[in-house]
Amino acid sequence: MTWLTVALVLVVAAAGLLRWRRPAWYWLTFGVTLATLRVLLRYPSVMDACGLTVPAPRWRLTLARMTNRAIPGPRAPRILRVRPTRTGLVLRLKLRPGQDAFDVAASCDRLRHSFAMYGVTSRELRSGVVEVRMTGYDVLKRVQMPAKCDTRPMRVPVALREDGAVHFRDYRAVPHALTLGATESGKSVYQRNLVAALAPQRVALVGIDCKQGVELFPLARRFSALADNPDTAAELLDALVAHMEDVYQLIRAEQRITADVPDAEIAADIWKLPDDLRPVPIVVLVDEVAELALFATKEEEKRRDRIITALARLAQLGRAAGIYLEICGQRFGSELGKGITMLRAQLTGRTAHRVNDESSANMAFGDIAPDAVLAAIQISTDMPGVAITGDSTGGWARIRAPHTSLRQAVNTCNRYADLAPDLPALAPFRPALGGPKPIPAPAVESAPAAA
Ligand SMILES: Nc1ncnc2c1ncn2[C@@H]1O[C@H](COP(=O)(O)OP(=O)(O)O)[C@@H](O)[C@H]1O
Ligand SMILES: [Mg+2]
Repeated sequence: MTWLTVALVLVVAAAGLLRWRRPAWYWLTFGVTLATLRVLLRYPSVMDACGLTVPAPRWRLTLARMTNRAIPGPRAPRILRVRPTRTGLVLRLKLRPGQDAFDVAASCDRLRHSFAMYGVTSRELRSGVVEVRMTGYDVLKRVQMPAKCDTRPMRVPVALREDGAVHFRDYRAVPHALTLGATESGKSVYQRNLVAALAPQRVALVGIDCKQGVELFPLARRFSALADNPDTAAELLDALVAHMEDVYQLIRAEQRITADVPDAEIAADIWKLPDDLRPVPIVVLVDEVAELALFATKEEEKRRDRIITALARLAQLGRAAGIYLEICGQRFGSELGKGITMLRAQLTGRTAHRVNDESSANMAFGDIAPDAVLAAIQISTDMPGVAITGDSTGGWARIRAPHTSLRQAVNTCNRYADLAPDLPALAPFRPALGGPKPIPAPAVESAPAAA
């Protein structure tokens, strides 16, 4: 008897400790069973209390009256499926006549408290069927990506969503993206995750990092071209535009359409070409984009116009040629001069990390999802990396990328260095890779050799 008590106390203590220190492990060991039982046992009463039941149909009431049976009570949506996941539970509910998906969405917060879950969201799967996703703990606090993701060519996992699902960056669905955020909000870590996720794929990476290259140059081994100042960036972008035109010529030759058909009318893209002819897709990563758009002299203004024009052309025509833009910055609004709002309108994917003011958030979401603006300014400073991501349908979600250190990203890039394609058009911008140079300044002597 005493041994049993001791064992029980140990188990409860272990569960408590896990729950406190390692919520993800707690969920996988104890949490998932307890939560499933709790949800199934409390389901009828909770749904009733949350106003998600409907009275029994008339024929049942009549039948009960005629046969002198107990009057049937109100009925909750039928549970079609309960699926435990790595981070929570997913319920699939069949709505009763008279209910709608909005009723469930409006009750999410009540369900969260009643089932003692961390978060509850719902979405309509098809008419009459609603999926309720619950998380057992704060999955964004310590982001752990699942070991296996549904990675496909040009579709890579970059972050975890608040509801425990994986957030993918799908270049073929959303070719160009804009990532905004105040300084120290996690933009570069997000970009680093992208680079690490793309590194094993057949893709050329091109980087423009006007912060003297501190973020992207350590990853140089996997990059096909890099620029660390606006002058090189202007030349690199011109080379990309020229490359894009070559790709269009190739597609056109494959289509056997005469050369005087304008570019924009070409319906095909590189993905429709046979595998052996297909040019390698290119992802252009731009960190701190405002550096490209600022100018002090007349000369710099000319350069700026050249850069913005090239970016706008890549954004307009790049998709079919397999050139995708990934732009990061602190602000990206009309105060950066002409052409910026036009360029922004081409960037479909929007992600906003913590921002300092509403107008910055408006640059990301003002034109697509107004309520995401509010969510973006509510991100707190103690959770760097948390971001709001929106899509062109007006939906949005809170996400956080895993905290990949520069060292981890460098290791990944070095491992896949031989996959960096050689693009003749971009050859002048290919980062020179020698052994690490001796650095005389004592302040940086302790930096790791590869960085
Ligand atoms: N996803 C994340 N999870 C945990 N910490 C993060 C995350 N993203 C960023 N951080 C922290 O915030 C700091 C600033 O991130 P960084 O990407 O350099 O910001 P930015 O480029 O926006 O100025 C990083 O050094 C890191 O410690
Ligand atoms: Mg940065």
